[in-house]
Amino acid sequence: MLEIVILPAQTPPPVRFLILISGRGSNMQAIARVIRSRSLPAEICAVVSNRPDASGLDWAREQGLPVQVVPHREFQSREAFDAALMQRIDALNPDYILLAGFMRVLGPAFVEHFDGRIINIHPSLLPAFPGLHTHAQALAAGVQWHGCTVHFVTPVLDHGPIIAQGVLPVLAHDTPDTLAARLLPIEHRAYAEVTAWLAERRVTLDGQGRVQVQGLDRRAFAEQAIPSE
Ligand code: GRF
Repeated sequence: MLEIVILPAQTPPPVRFLILISGRGSNMQAIARVIRSRSLPAEICAVVSNRPDASGLDWAREQGLPVQVVPHREFQSREAFDAALMQRIDALNPDYILLAGFMRVLGPAFVEHFDGRIINIHPSLLPAFPGLHTHAQALAAGVQWHGCTVHFVTPVLDHGPIIAQGVLPVLAHDTPDTLAARLLPIEHRAYAEVTAWLAERRVTLDGQGRVQVQGLDRRAFAEQAIPSE
């Protein structure tokens, strides 16, 4: 006799995020906080740093997050470091690798291995001002708007499909430091929101390589109020 078995609807497993940091890790904190405060279907499977002295590691340990260090200085070449990091990450089987102030350039072999699964935050409105010293670059160019970009990582440095941006006006007396300080909370909001979208499995790429966020009409994240001079 044919028996019909009705299986309960399966909830997908939590999205596994692995966070890479090199320093204070304030973006990592914003990511961890949004997962907890919104009870997102996600978990941080590890926080990994290339620097044993990264202060963000202390916070991660206090929170009980699994922490690992892969010190880049102990490797002869960039390729050897990338290969060791890749092996370590493969063992943790993350869905996404979130770069949060990770100050090493990852080579093409690494990026291609995790194709479509590496996300970065860059402190400029890409494609403007890739590389370092983005706030000084913005001031030197005389732009009136500056910001941050959360994007998929491709083998080209600070390039790749844009998931979200945050914007702020450049004020007459801004310096690289004041811009960085005003941008940081916007970075945190943008990265936290992108984390939520990824956890809810809303983020896809269309045929043109542009990002779609299912069910949302995306707008740039801005400062709450535009300050007057
Ligand atoms: C942020 O400004 C981020 O955009 C850049 O490095 C900084 C890292 O800050 N890539 P934190 O370590 O997340 O506090």
